[in-house]
Amino acid sequence: MRSPLPFLALLGGAVSLAAAQNSPDHKCSATKPCELGCCGPLDDQGVGYCGGGPTFCGAGNCTSNCNWKADCDPGTWGPGGQWSTQIKCPLNVCCSPHGFCGTTEDFCLGAQVPKPECPLSAATSDKRTIGYYEGWNWARPCGNMPPEDIPLGYYTHLIYSFAMIHPQTFHVVPMDETTGSLYSAVTSLKARQPGLEVWLAVGGWAHNDDGPYRTAFSDMAKSDANQDAFFESLISLMFRHNFDGIDIDWEYPVAHDRGGIPADFDNYVRMLRRLRERLNRTGKRFGISIAIPASYWYLRGFNLQEMEPWIDWFNIMTYDIHGTWDSTVKAIGSVALAHTNLTEIDQGLELMWRNNINPERINLGLGFYGRSFTMEDPNCMAPGCPFKNATGAGAGRCTGTPGVLSAAEINELIQNGAQQTLYEEEAVQVVTWNNDQWVSWDDAVTLGMKRDFANKRCLGGTMVWAIDLDDGTLIEALGSNLNRNKTQVYEPTFYECNMPGWV
Ligand SMILES: *[C@@H]1O[C@H](CO)[C@@H](O)[C@H](O)[C@H]1NC(C)=O
Ligand SMILES: *[C@@H]1O[C@H](CO)[C@@H](O)[C@H](O)[C@H]1NC(C)=O
Ligand SMILES: *[C@@H]1O[C@H](CO)[C@@H](O)[C@H](O)[C@H]1NC(C)=O
Ligand SMILES: *[C@@H]1O[C@H](CO)[C@@H](O)[C@H](O)[C@H]1NC(C)=O
Ligand SMILES: *[C@@H]1O[C@H](CO)[C@@H](O)[C@H](O)[C@H]1NC(C)=O
Repeated sequence: MRSPLPFLALLGGAVSLAAAQNSPDHKCSATKPCELGCCGPLDDQGVGYCGGGPTFCGAGNCTSNCNWKADCDPGTWGPGGQWSTQIKCPLNVCCSPHGFCGTTEDFCLGAQVPKPECPLSAATSDKRTIGYYEGWNWARPCGNMPPEDIPLGYYTHLIYSFAMIHPQTFHVVPMDETTGSLYSAVTSLKARQPGLEVWLAVGGWAHNDDGPYRTAFSDMAKSDANQDAFFESLISLMFRHNFDGIDIDWEYPVAHDRGGIPADFDNYVRMLRRLRERLNRTGKRFGISIAIPASYWYLRGFNLQEMEPWIDWFNIMTYDIHGTWDSTVKAIGSVALAHTNLTEIDQGLELMWRNNINPERINLGLGFYGRSFTMEDPNCMAPGCPFKNATGAGAGRCTGTPGVLSAAEINELIQNGAQQTLYEEEAVQVVTWNNDQWVSWDDAVTLGMKRDFANKRCLGGTMVWAIDLDDGTLIEALGSNLNRNKTQVYEPTFYECNMPGWV
């Protein structure tokens, strides 16, 4: 299955490497230089410690690797800033005493980020309920949702996923022929739900996998001419198929492991500004949103503050926080953890608050699916217990991919006797079955908790990945608790007779 996915596969590794520098047993000697940091003065046994700043790197103090520069200046190294490559960390995250950027206790030493607080009754997030639609779901053997079956009345926006960017022409191209043939079938649902908007998503996780499309975003953003080619193609497609906006899912700018380059940081901002200007000149009010990760590792490639003025909102992908890929992350390892843990989501959002992003412009990501594991020991099935490598739980009947199950499939498992345990503080459900199978997901109860959280943090909306993974129960649960009434929905036969002049 392709989703805008694994969002922090490498985060833990990078952070743990850096965090290790804070630990006093990171030693060096005349024969063993530091991996990271300068080797400071050696003691009687010829042993020194690795670190940054004058104590370790200053002339007379340093014994090897003396030209090493820290990532940031913690503010205790005196004036001049010569000990680090830059003074501040990207996205205003914390600078550790040894000059590494990060967000955890090792870096922040207890410093708190002020978070927005709103009364739940304000129900700020009820304004927008956005649903991504996997245009390729027709290809599943079962559990399909053709456009005419998309549940109406609760979603305010549908986002058709995905179109792609041609790596040479930079024109918008369909993912495949069938997926590209369904755009109008989805946009025509607007006739049945007054006020409904349908946007087009370009990109997605798989777009930047190894292959011909990997650098298409980066190459497109590189020059005004390439951007213009993309814009003109996009605009004609949006007019032709009656789309209301564009959602850009570039996963991820700057990230080397995702085909990114350093120049993406500025180019993405310029591209969004020019896109806003160009769309304004069409005379129609097209929307612009971008999908963003909730982890520092990938989010640091986004110049959030400079982007904000040009877009309507950020869709933050607060799911896939854990999965089988954790087995390769040194700081986590092969233990089963919930992929939509609210404690971790709240921490992820701190990256937005550090950058003064208006919470009204943020839509909280909700998963209509679970991330699964095959556990090592049937007697140890709680979160934190070990999983067997790299496979995930068995593939679902319809979604057919080990490690992930749709909400519809999980509901089936529960009906067939799987055990479900609520983790209240984390607002997740964990379901276990067949001895060693484990999946974390969100049901009606935890979606309600997450909606409350979105309201508490004053967010302007929620966003669902993906409409078609639901058997109808989740959107019904989420939607019927909103502080607004279900929109009136017209039957297809009715609008077919009245179509052109309708509403
Ligand atoms: C050497 O380390 C000491 C102790 O931290 C510091 O005061 C001094 O400035 C350092 N020397 C240089 C040349 O930076
Ligand atoms: C685009 O149009 C909107 C609404 O009319 C306006 O608020 C915004 O300033 C315009 N942006 C640019 C870059 O022209
Ligand atoms: C949720 O995240 C917290 C903080 O990382 C962790 O301590 C806890 O075990 C997690 N819970 C679950 C159910 O994954
Ligand atoms: C699990 O994966 C880790 C990291 O790739 C590897 O070191 C370990 O040997 C694997 N274990 C099994 C049982 O395959
Ligand atoms: C929802 O509909 C009911 C009944 O028609 C009405 O009384 C109520 O004011 C509506 N609520 C909102 C928030 O529009």
